[in-house]
Amino acid sequence: MNKTSFLTVLLAISLTAAAQPSGRVAWNNDWTFSKDGASKVLDLPHDWGVEGPFRQEYPGETGKLAWWGDASYTKNLEVSEQQLSGTISLEVDGAFSNAGVYVNGNKAGEWPYGYSSWSVDLTAYLTPGDNQVEIRLNNKPESSRWYPGGGIYRNVWLRFSGRTAVSHWGSYVTTRQQEDAAIVTQHLSISTDKPQQTSIKTQVFFLEPSGNRTIEHLVAETSDTQQIYNGRTIAQHFIIKAPKLWSPETPNLYVARTQIDAEGADGETYETPFGIRSAEFKAEGFFLNGEKTFLKGVCLHHDAGALGAVWNEDAWIRRLQMLKTMGCNAIRCSHNPPAPEFLDLCDRMGFLVIDELTDTWTWPKKDNGYATLFNDWAEKDLVAMIHRDRNHPSVILWSIGNECGEQGDSEKWWIPQMLTDICHREDPTRPTTAGNDNPWAASQPYAATIDVYGFNYKPHLYQEYIDNHPGRPVYGSETSSCVSTRGYYRFPVDEDKGKGWAMEEPFQVSSYDLYAPAWASKPDYEWEYEDKVPECAGEFVWTGYDYLGEPTPFNMDPSVFTNFHTEEEKEAYRKMVESWGQTISDVPLPSRSSYFGIIDLAGFPKDRYWLYQSRWRPDHPVAHILPHWTWPGREGEITPVHVYTSGDEAELFVNGKSMGRKTKEGYRIVWDDVVYQPGKIEVIAYKDGREWARDSRQTAGKAAKAVASIDYAGGDLIYVTVDIQDRRGTLVPDADNVVEFSLKGPGIILATDAGDPTSHVPFYSHKLPAFHGKASVIVKRTGSGTISVNANSHGLRKATCEIFQTNPHR
Ligand code: GAL
Repeated sequence: MNKTSFLTVLLAISLTAAAQPSGRVAWNNDWTFSKDGASKVLDLPHDWGVEGPFRQEYPGETGKLAWWGDASYTKNLEVSEQQLSGTISLEVDGAFSNAGVYVNGNKAGEWPYGYSSWSVDLTAYLTPGDNQVEIRLNNKPESSRWYPGGGIYRNVWLRFSGRTAVSHWGSYVTTRQQEDAAIVTQHLSISTDKPQQTSIKTQVFFLEPSGNRTIEHLVAETSDTQQIYNGRTIAQHFIIKAPKLWSPETPNLYVARTQIDAEGADGETYETPFGIRSAEFKAEGFFLNGEKTFLKGVCLHHDAGALGAVWNEDAWIRRLQMLKTMGCNAIRCSHNPPAPEFLDLCDRMGFLVIDELTDTWTWPKKDNGYATLFNDWAEKDLVAMIHRDRNHPSVILWSIGNECGEQGDSEKWWIPQMLTDICHREDPTRPTTAGNDNPWAASQPYAATIDVYGFNYKPHLYQEYIDNHPGRPVYGSETSSCVSTRGYYRFPVDEDKGKGWAMEEPFQVSSYDLYAPAWASKPDYEWEYEDKVPECAGEFVWTGYDYLGEPTPFNMDPSVFTNFHTEEEKEAYRKMVESWGQTISDVPLPSRSSYFGIIDLAGFPKDRYWLYQSRWRPDHPVAHILPHWTWPGREGEITPVHVYTSGDEAELFVNGKSMGRKTKEGYRIVWDDVVYQPGKIEVIAYKDGREWARDSRQTAGKAAKAVASIDYAGGDLIYVTVDIQDRRGTLVPDADNVVEFSLKGPGIILATDAGDPTSHVPFYSHKLPAFHGKASVIVKRTGSGTISVNANSHGLRKATCEIFQTNPHR
């Protein structure tokens, strides 16, 4: 063969290879969505529930949105004969729910649990040329205690691989440290159509973030030739000298890149990102890389407020950044596995994660909930969660369930034991946990079926548990459940935890952060016990953000009773409602989202944000004063002032007059007898005798202008905040002026929200009332160039905000 024809052959080979994609490609665009007789073409991820209007008659517990019903998504898939000589799989990160996959009308697979990720091998059902792929969903009502979303609300992928390839989630990396080196083992499970000698080459790179780029440094490589057969797992070992350890402060990551050279392999490069760290729960607490680390955690449901259940990376970068700034270092994914990219973000941004399977075992909380699936699917769902997530350094615990009704049931202890055994079998490197609310369960043999015992709202039992179970770790899997509305305060301020709201207009909860439902408490109560019991490994506050649904205390759906931990608590709640002259479920409650968040649904921090920051970041100068100081009509009345500070003393001034310097005795500094007069309140906080931080509130005048500012600008989404201010620039704290958003440039308005849990303005509306002086718009960038967002409100000076940057936050 002469040189030219040799080149021609090479070119022909590479062209054929290029025509056959290998690896994973996103398969999200141009699906035809059909529901209730109507069809439209759209891109995934998609949540049909959040598109709809809120309806008063829909249950508040699932967000007053219609996420139920039957629907289908169809898309054409054209494949060549050559592609069909390999394997073509459909990978779905999450579809709510009861998914069935059909190819040209034939059922190719199914996966009922809406929070699981799964894969279906389509190869045998496809024919060369055009094929129709259809994903049918069916959401049963009465299947969730919060807003679950409806639709293929996470990413969908096609994976093209050769006949010999790494199996789905077939790579599992474990690491061990020895002196100044890490021993990294990659366990690879291989699928093949025939036994053969195969060369498997893996290179490991350290990923160094550098601005918007990542620089890769090769740190180890290995190449083995092995006899493989279908399902064989082989192990490859690497030594990484002076490894860069992963932690929330130093989220260092590596990637293993594997190539299989065998007959029928197609050169796919299989990537396994991982981190090197040690994570241990001991009797004395949690240790990361050998250092005792307190879990400053929050629980999060999966919705991203106005975007509903739709996965969006920018939405979650923004959310996680705010939590990080607060001092949070851990997330509990309640009560189900999150989108896989959520864990990528936790790896990259530095959060420790509890990955949770379910809210229910066989004891039902809702008629059509997970209990109906448990027997057939629990093991499959658990294995799917572990195989998908076990390479994430962020994941430190597998949670097998939350407040499952079988806790402590001596007949049913085999359920948690079985689940823990599955976790240990699939990943011997991580312990299991569960969220437990039944106080009795902790003293039953049941407790021994869980490696790390989690108490929901029972800090007073931490010490007892330690005394009765020497050596066994314990923590607060759910804490506080304080409820509040941003910017809303009620007087007189009553310390009784149930006195922060009334079952009447405006259906809001006072933001003094003292209020909670019967089973719950103010944050301070939890901290008293954490401070007395240093072995407690940490806490996970319910919740970091408000979420759609479960608007306790304005949640009269009978399922609210599943939250009560004792019959006495239930009875007390029933009596309280009756004392208002009402029975459960006859108050026309408007609320569609929860009040539990430290941050509201639109992403505006509530007062509590600074309470947690003052505790979780003791070295960061924090002073936060509440309430706001615009109370026309309250002149001369007692208006208590609370200050959250990481200092140890503070002095309050009202119009320049000192109200006294006080030492922090509990977790906040309180001036209970301040008399309201318009003007200014100011606090100066001290630490070790030196000025540490200041904060103030000024009485606002009439609303005069809307002021827009960029809250977050990512490559895909931009969040713009509008503040309603008086002419001097003070936020008008009760302003509810209607704001209308419009936009010029390469973007569209995706959603608006102001964080009012009672608002029924649909998220897709471009017009909404400000809530306590603030509103937010979410813009989707559709191209490059400047976007200008305008906010118009009748009678106010209008606001414009220009967004030039693309993605400054990554
Ligand atoms: C817990 C439950 C959570 C949530 C919370 C509200 O008992 O585990 O899912 O309902 O109560 O306080």
